[in-house]
Amino acid sequence: MTTVRVVVGGAVFDRGRLLAARRSAPPELAGRWELPGGKLEPGESARQALVRELREELGVEVEPLARIDGEWPLKPPYVLHVWTARLLAGEVRPLQDHDELRWLTPDRVDEVDWLEADRPAVAAAARLLSAG
Ligand code: CDP
Repeated sequence: MTTVRVVVGGAVFDRGRLLAARRSAPPELAGRWELPGGKLEPGESARQALVRELREELGVEVEPLARIDGEWPLKPPYVLHVWTARLLAGEVRPLQDHDELRWLTPDRVDEVDWLEADRPAVAAAARLLSAG
């Protein structure tokens, strides 16, 4: 029996825009855009993992807000969960795993080449942003 393992991605909002991060590794994912995040460590909640990952990868503090409905398959045993999050402090910088960051208004989220698994959550996040 395998238990699914959660990767948490953050739909980070700031001033009406959504953060997109371009992966620099591994080679098969490099150049594709994602909602930044990563794997839960043992004993961690999704909120805790998201706060830790975004601190490590982007150098910022975020407040997770709510989970976006749904769960998207990744390479087994992983599944993607996405949480909206608010930028609390700091300016995002690509410290780890990414080589470019972009803030997208909701009408422009399709401008970047998202990883397949992220697309439904990105669409949902854009709808939330548009709704204000
Ligand atoms: O940093 P960590 O090793 O914890 O995780 P990661 O490499 O950021 O994410 C693990 C896997 O989840 C990646 O290999 C991606 O395939 C996938 N992923 C994704 O599809 N969409 C995201 N928003 C985040 C991760």
